[in-house]
Amino acid sequence: MRPAMLVGTLTTLLLMVHCRVSTALTVGVGGLGWVLWGALQCALAPAHAFVLLSSYPAYSRQFEVGTLYMYGYETSVLLNEPQPLPVSTAKDVGFRVELAAEVTPVWQHPTNSHEQLLQLTIVTPKLSVKARQGPSPEGFVQKNSRLESYNLHPLFFHWDNGNIGNVYHIEGSELSVLNVMKGISSLFQHQVKNVEQTEVDTSGRCEVTYKLVDSTHITKLKKNCKNVTPVTFFNQTNKVLGADVSSQATTTFVLNSDDKILKKATSMETHFLRVEARKQAGAEVMSKQILQYKGNKKVTTPKYTGKNVAEAVNSVASKFRKPLITDQLATTPDPKECIACRTLKDLVANFRTTLSGKSLGTQSSAIAFTRLLRKVRECDQPTVQAVLKDKKNARILPQLLDIAAAAQTVAAHKAAMAVLNFGGEQTTLPERYIISLSLATHPSVALIQDVMKLVKKGHKNENLYETMMLTAASLTHTFSKSPNNTNHKIISGVKKFISEKLVACESEECKLLYIRALKNLRINDTVELLLDCAEGQARKPAIYATRALQTFPDSYITTEALKRLEKIFLDLKRPHDSSVRAMAADILLRHQPGEELVATILQVMRSQNTKELNTLLLGRLQDLADKDPHTKKVLMSVLQEPEYNNYHVLGQSGLSSAFSRPLVQDKNINASFSNMVEIHGGLLKRTTVDVFVDTQEDQMRLLSFGIFAGGLSMFGGEDAVDDGEESNAGIEISLLDTQLRPYVFFNSQGELMGHVWSGTGSERTTALQGSLLLQDHIQVVPLQNGLNAELLLNGAISYDFAGQIQVSLWNRNAHSLVEVGAALVIQGVARVDNSFVQTLIEFNTGTQAQLNFISDLEFYDEVMMCLQMVQPDIEVINNVRKLERIPGSNYMLKKYKRKLTPVPGKTYVMNKKNTELCSKMFSKK
Ligand SMILES: *[C@@H]1O[C@H](CO)[C@@H](O)[C@H](O)[C@H]1NC(C)=O
Ligand SMILES: *[C@@H]1O[C@H](CO)[C@@H](O)[C@H](O)[C@H]1NC(C)=O
Ligand SMILES: *[C@@H]1O[C@H](CO)[C@@H](O)[C@H](O)[C@H]1NC(C)=O
Ligand SMILES: *[C@@H]1O[C@H](CO)[C@@H](O)[C@H](O)[C@H]1NC(C)=O
Repeated sequence: MRPAMLVGTLTTLLLMVHCRVSTALTVGVGGLGWVLWGALQCALAPAHAFVLLSSYPAYSRQFEVGTLYMYGYETSVLLNEPQPLPVSTAKDVGFRVELAAEVTPVWQHPTNSHEQLLQLTIVTPKLSVKARQGPSPEGFVQKNSRLESYNLHPLFFHWDNGNIGNVYHIEGSELSVLNVMKGISSLFQHQVKNVEQTEVDTSGRCEVTYKLVDSTHITKLKKNCKNVTPVTFFNQTNKVLGADVSSQATTTFVLNSDDKILKKATSMETHFLRVEARKQAGAEVMSKQILQYKGNKKVTTPKYTGKNVAEAVNSVASKFRKPLITDQLATTPDPKECIACRTLKDLVANFRTTLSGKSLGTQSSAIAFTRLLRKVRECDQPTVQAVLKDKKNARILPQLLDIAAAAQTVAAHKAAMAVLNFGGEQTTLPERYIISLSLATHPSVALIQDVMKLVKKGHKNENLYETMMLTAASLTHTFSKSPNNTNHKIISGVKKFISEKLVACESEECKLLYIRALKNLRINDTVELLLDCAEGQARKPAIYATRALQTFPDSYITTEALKRLEKIFLDLKRPHDSSVRAMAADILLRHQPGEELVATILQVMRSQNTKELNTLLLGRLQDLADKDPHTKKVLMSVLQEPEYNNYHVLGQSGLSSAFSRPLVQDKNINASFSNMVEIHGGLLKRTTVDVFVDTQEDQMRLLSFGIFAGGLSMFGGEDAVDDGEESNAGIEISLLDTQLRPYVFFNSQGELMGHVWSGTGSERTTALQGSLLLQDHIQVVPLQNGLNAELLLNGAISYDFAGQIQVSLWNRNAHSLVEVGAALVIQGVARVDNSFVQTLIEFNTGTQAQLNFISDLEFYDEVMMCLQMVQPDIEVINNVRKLERIPGSNYMLKKYKRKLTPVPGKTYVMNKKNTELCSKMFSKK
């Protein structure tokens, strides 16, 4: 048997297996590639599956000059939620174009009959749309549209041995029609042999695999298609917030058994857009082409002359008395025409109530954010500026600034900068804008330079200055994560600026600011500098530097760094602050600790008289052992020793705690929080809560917030320790590892007493609110039929962090409530548009959640504290909207689906000691 035959037989056998598999299985989405492939091959199967062939042709025969080949053609596009099988259902929307296509060679290379210029003409194109009551099975109904009235010009393509090079068209051809014709021409690009190669066609530049099934059947599989025409593209730098786009594209060709010209070509493709963190939310674009040979006839089309194709093309041009435009098979997307378009001004007016500050933290506020974001991205500077300046929008200006920042277009940034006054006394609005900018998903060099310019200019308002510095740092970090930018000089420039400022600092406040900036910059070559600070004498800078290191990716912490952290933890000659030691131990324990390290930590716990730190360390150790099998094994092994497995080590009775709890668990995503509550002298010293989101591929710190307090020994009852600080307290918030400047409640005993007497803080007060962009993905996927699908994914979170503190010196108790309210909306769109039909699917998924941290403190005889964390009931919303429309007509079809899933609330159990104290405190009442 010759090798070619062997391949043929094998393919046939494989094919028989596929057919059985694909008909028997109603597979999940994962197997779709195979199903698509199998379905196509099965469509061919009856013709050839059991035929053994003796020889294969080298090439298909070329078309004969003087003959017109007639084809019937149809192509359809369907949009739906992701389906297990690529078939039409009653729930999808979409359209179909049917026409007759005629192909004839108008030039042939004088010495090479495998090189021709082919002329493609289309006649009587008709549009059908997916109608609600359309005839089964496909449900298409024919409609009038602009398609029938377009002037149809021929398209010429240079065919060379099955490859298509340039295409040529007459000036003034309608772009949508041209794209459809390129989709037809692409079907004439095929090889009659088993080969893998790179090809450019309507799908872009793809890796293509041809398989010769037998002498008249060929399959073609396209992979890794890249856009050839420049189109907008961007994505998130963080996988957890990414879009998962998966594509399949195949074509099968059947040749005439006698003259081997193309008899039938069938292409099928699917593109899925899914939310990485919520794979059940998504959209699918499915497209099909069928080109069927109908017959041929002799014609007397003019033959053009020329030694090469260029001369032939000139000769065509002179016949048409118009220049021919040289083009390629790759398409240019049709400009988008708005569907139910509104101006930005109208849209803002429409959302004015929803955009009010009071609505932040709600679903509708997050939806308004994504809608307007998409609109602002399309607008020029004067349009955005006019809306920002409009007096009617004065009350919602902070929310509009969030949107302008998230849009990240030059126009929106310039508009905001033109409206804001950075030189004035009022810093609230400039600060709001700069905070929103810090979470840009794809910052440009120009934007970073712009913010750095503000930083270098300085500002007399320290808060605004710090916010600008922190924003410059986090923008630089996001920028550095984009593959192309890793070594850009702006990164080292910003690093140098911050490091030099830090080293030059004289005051503690100054050091803290630049350490927080390094935390936001988050690059590996600042680790040493941060370790220097962590080792230093100054207590607060050491705390902030260690916290920065604690939030850095694991890969940044080298063996060197681990050694230095171990020293910090163990240094008993000059004991470091308990927070510094606790965080150092945490970093050590997260980096594959050995038995020796764990034994050392237990040893320290046994020997030192730091009840609270010991309790915290034990909690953290147990927590990590629960999550990580390696740590568990090491801990179990060390605990074999009676030296450690005893009350002095394991019976810690402090109030501090460290633990993690799951918030949401499903198959695509796990959200959890880790919590460290550090008590000192019976009073809260620091808490940190980190909310993590994990997908199969990546982990992200969505939110951190911390409360810090000091100098409160006056409340501390008997065993209160004076920590030598002025009374102070405040909160710190980081969103997506972007730390915002701390919000200080009070900074001295005088201020504190002022609050207590005047009752400020006893009302619910918002500490921070706004909206920000999470998912941000735009991509244009060229379809085989020449049309383009646009895939968009935007996620937004609208948040409102508020607090309330009541202190009664009379009753000697205090009550505090911190509410973290947030609403999340993820909106995905897939749309396929052209000048004669538009179709889109949009899905929204979201929820509105709240976490309440409640602490009650009594400082009567003994100090007692009870911490509670409560999550009220929530609802997860999923809705899907589908639409098709014929521009220039009244026709519009809309489909809408809405689903609500309730999720019951819960109260999280903290540690045992806390539970005891809570029941003790609340039983008295
Ligand atoms: C963003 O797109 C680039 C280019 O296609 C890709 O290499 C990168 O993995 C994408 N990033 C994420 C987080 O998906
Ligand atoms: C990265 O740089 C290469 C070469 O300069 C360029 O072709 C490519 O488009 C860039 N990618 C992105 C995502 O900007
Ligand atoms: C930072 O990371 C880069 C790339 O991984 C590496 O080449 C470099 O040595 C690291 N720098 C330090 C100081 O660890
Ligand atoms: C979520 O956690 C569960 C239980 O630990 C685990 O089985 C699952 O694989 C996790 N899922 C993801 C996406 O990480």
